[in-house]
Amino acid sequence: MGFQNSNPLLTTNANVSSSGGTRTYPGPVTIEKLQIQLTDAYGRVLNLHNMDFSFNFGEMTIYEREKLYNYVIKYNPNIVLECGSGVGASTYVMANALSEESRIYSCDPSRTPIFTSEKLNFFSVPSDLLITYLVDNEICPNFIFFDGPEDPNVALNDFIILDKFVKVGTIFSMHDWCLTTRKLDNGLSTKSALLKPYIENSSNWELIEELFGDDYKLGEESVGLCFYKKIL
Ligand SMILES: C[S@@+](CC[C@H](N)C(=O)[O-])C[C@H]1O[C@@H](n2cnc3c(N)ncnc32)[C@H](O)[C@@H]1O
Repeated sequence: MGFQNSNPLLTTNANVSSSGGTRTYPGPVTIEKLQIQLTDAYGRVLNLHNMDFSFNFGEMTIYEREKLYNYVIKYNPNIVLECGSGVGASTYVMANALSEESRIYSCDPSRTPIFTSEKLNFFSVPSDLLITYLVDNEICPNFIFFDGPEDPNVALNDFIILDKFVKVGTIFSMHDWCLTTRKLDNGLSTKSALLKPYIENSSNWELIEELFGDDYKLGEESVGLCFYKKIL
């Protein structure tokens, strides 16, 4: 398995081969036809017996990935902490935006990013354990991205520990920030239910930008994404 498309916002985990070699697109494109062959880990072609199948890589929209990518470029952090890597879509976006010497510490207790990178330190643990490791080893992130479980206590508890540890200027971002029914998929997430009011009432953090998710605009699809900066 490997990434064949070098655009960090348009990625695939499939082995892609074409007569023209690897193709790179500068942005979203309309692809009319794809010929796809699925193989197992040993390279054997899988016969799906005409069953339907679909691809999905990650759980962020292109618009959200683009925002995350641009914020990492803009603030150029040297240490990124990600809680909730999943298969690594957001991880990949941030790793691509980071400068060569920067590092991303990412964790997920049950899923693993499907790519490797010199910049990525992945830990197969829940976020509280990775945060304890960072604090104990004085590895202080200056860009934090939360996209963990549907448990509002996890995000709040992790944030409270990090708030005492990280420095002024640190950027905090969280996905699934929308607490009302989302226009994009009619879904409802509660993972930020405790943290959202906490940070809104904190004088330590200043809002930079919020994508609401309940304010659907074509081409700007989001299920909620926030960016805050630590000011105190
Ligand atoms: C919404 S998915 C992450 C999606 C990913 N960021 C992306 O861009 O596709 C949430 C992930 O949080 C992980 N998770 C669950 N409990 C966790 C915990 N305590 N700490 C960190 N991650 C956790 C789940 O295994 C799941 O993969």
